[in-house]
Amino acid sequence: MEITNISEYEAIAKKKLPKMIFDYYASGAEDQWTLQENRNAFSRILFRQRILIDVSKIDISTTVLGFKISMPIMIAPTAMQKMAHPDGECATARAASSSGTIMTLSSWATSSVDEVASTGPGIRFFQLYVYKDRKVVEQLVRRAERAGFKAIVLTADTPQLGRRESDIKNRFNLPSHLTLKNFEGLEISKMYETNDSGLASYVSSQIDRTLSWKDVKWLQSITSMPILVKGVMNAEDTLLAIETGVAGIIVSNHGARQLDYIPATISCLEEVVKAAQGRVPVFLDGGVRRGTDVFKALALGAAGIFIGRPVLYSLAVDGEAGVRNVLKMLRDEFELTMTLAGCVSLKTITRNHIITEEDMIRNSMSRL
Ligand SMILES: Cc1cc2nc3c(=O)[nH]c(=O)nc-3n(C[C@H](O)[C@H](O)[C@H](O)COP(=O)(O)O)c2cc1C
Repeated sequence: MEITNISEYEAIAKKKLPKMIFDYYASGAEDQWTLQENRNAFSRILFRQRILIDVSKIDISTTVLGFKISMPIMIAPTAMQKMAHPDGECATARAASSSGTIMTLSSWATSSVDEVASTGPGIRFFQLYVYKDRKVVEQLVRRAERAGFKAIVLTADTPQLGRRESDIKNRFNLPSHLTLKNFEGLEISKMYETNDSGLASYVSSQIDRTLSWKDVKWLQSITSMPILVKGVMNAEDTLLAIETGVAGIIVSNHGARQLDYIPATISCLEEVVKAAQGRVPVFLDGGVRRGTDVFKALALGAAGIFIGRPVLYSLAVDGEAGVRNVLKMLRDEFELTMTLAGCVSLKTITRNHIITEEDMIRNSMSRL
């Protein structure tokens, strides 16, 4: 059957992957309310299209941290991609590069920064988890820098792993033929079987729960790479991030895998954008599955979006070609959305092109 949208990869990947692996990729925390809400919230935002605009030429290219990319659609860091496909992160890197966009490599990748760099040219960011052992962190950041990575994405929402119940039931563990390649030769490249989630135990023993804004300053002192903070969900943390001097913010709830009952990212975006006041770019991830979602995020002020699970599912189904197809389908849908909404470049997308639930309530109140 022909695949006609990026969500269709999920069901095919489910048939193909061992249950433990599919569940690890798919699941959210606890009741998975936020997991559904990340999608549902997009469906409550509607369009206000403009008509009779010359849309014969559409430009969707943009610039992120000074790097020109083909579209405002990028790849979020997702761990352990070789569980999906033997080519893992290297296939994703090639697909991103040939699509002219940015890939973010996870700290917990099953391919190292050097292996990913050796796939050829491409703009790549490195996602950082801060370990208790700061020497390990320093070495890792230096290696990423030497391998030509362009920015650090600091994940700030994971002092402990969210409770993902299928991982507990499945006793999730990294298959024994794989390692966390960025830590090769170190004990922390492996995960051990426990009587719940092996990853949750790994995080409890290795990740630094004391991490705070002063450590972002420390990180700035050991690298010249710009730092994006991932996991900002409100105005208060936006202001602290800007005060700390970060280069950008990613509105993210970790694909609904950390704190359940946190709102959808698209519902928090405008608050963050307003607080940022254009001082730093604001990006978003979480539940983006359609070109219309990309447009909605940009209309609410995002400078670009990242996708997580669709990359894993398409990688599982068709390796590099699958990821390329996901990026192409999302790009084509986004371009079509712009055409039908009457926008010719990213700059022409405005807040007036959409209507949110809050707008509708405000409008009906004002009519009373
Ligand atoms: C299987 C899986 C693994 C992930 N691994 C990481 C990770 O290593 N580091 C990180 O910062 N975020 C990680 N994330 C979160 C993603 O970067 C991103 O925030 C999320 O997947 C976006 O939502 P989406 O999957 O709905 O597109 C992971 C998400 C998934 C689904």
